[in-house]
Amino acid sequence: MGKEVKKIGVLTSGGDAPGMNAALRAVVRTALNNNIQVVGIKRGYNGLMNGDIRELKGKDVSEILGRGGTILHSARALEMLTEEGQKKAANIYKILGLDALVVIGGDGSFQGCKALAKYGVNCIGIPATIDLDISCSEYTIGFDTAVNTGVDAISKLRDTTGSHERCSVCEVMGRDAGYIALWCAMGGGAEEVLLPESKETATSENVIKQIIENRSKGKLHNLVVVAEGIGGSQELAKEIQEKTGIQTRATILGHLQRGGAPTALDRVRASEMGYMAVQLILEGNMNKVIAYNKGEYEAIDIEEALSMQKEFDPKMYEIVKVLSI
Ligand code: F6P
Repeated sequence: MGKEVKKIGVLTSGGDAPGMNAALRAVVRTALNNNIQVVGIKRGYNGLMNGDIRELKGKDVSEILGRGGTILHSARALEMLTEEGQKKAANIYKILGLDALVVIGGDGSFQGCKALAKYGVNCIGIPATIDLDISCSEYTIGFDTAVNTGVDAISKLRDTTGSHERCSVCEVMGRDAGYIALWCAMGGGAEEVLLPESKETATSENVIKQIIENRSKGKLHNLVVVAEGIGGSQELAKEIQEKTGIQTRATILGHLQRGGAPTALDRVRASEMGYMAVQLILEGNMNKVIAYNKGEYEAIDIEEALSMQKEFDPKMYEIVKVLSI
């Protein structure tokens, strides 16, 4: 057991992700269940630096389990990258009398935790980003929902693409990581997928060659998924049309992919992670990031979590290729 915990803060930071609310609800209700007061900090670290807070009671987190976005609002706080901003945030933490801070966000947000730890702030990180680009964890809150949204969009595109015997290029989010694109490609049965992790083969020449080959085998429509990290889908669509004579349309899903009700998986994992965050605080097990690996939750030191590298597993990419013939 750690020292008595009376009051904690919680914030959501970086790009919002479906399931952040579910994690917030779990943090608040687990804390209240242990007689801990909870302060909700608005707009990520910006709210911490400016003392923009409100106390959260059980009822304040009612009806949010299945809501996308974050009721606390989120932001990317550039000031937290500066020593001045970090000192300001740590000072407010002390003025508020917080015993710990739960940060629901991505790697960038955990960098904030790492910096604050130097000033005596006790942090617990909960991984939440649609991009799945947090090195220490195989799962991040919001990824499953974003993939489901992408697959749904691709299925709809497939209907119209097939009807007109066209080609569709669908660009999905993911920043510099191709996980969303890869899962959307497999889940949506795409003929081609262009990922930042396989840049050497992700060329328009290769895509066009494949489309021509597909046509010769009697495949009359093609769906190409492009990761945001590759980009240029409008240009790619134009090039495909010019070089193959096949009508081609580009669709960029963009921020549509960040919204919507979280899937059951995201709700369950977010709830478990929120619960675990408070358990770690009660144990005095501070400055950890919660991760989900090989079917189990674990608490990893923030410094270690941030120094880890995620290896891209080419297996799934190979399977998409094999299945697309
Ligand atoms: O990190 C989540 C994400 O949606 C990325 O996929 C995307 O590159 C980025 O955020 C977009 O950020 P913003 O909403 O600030 O434009």
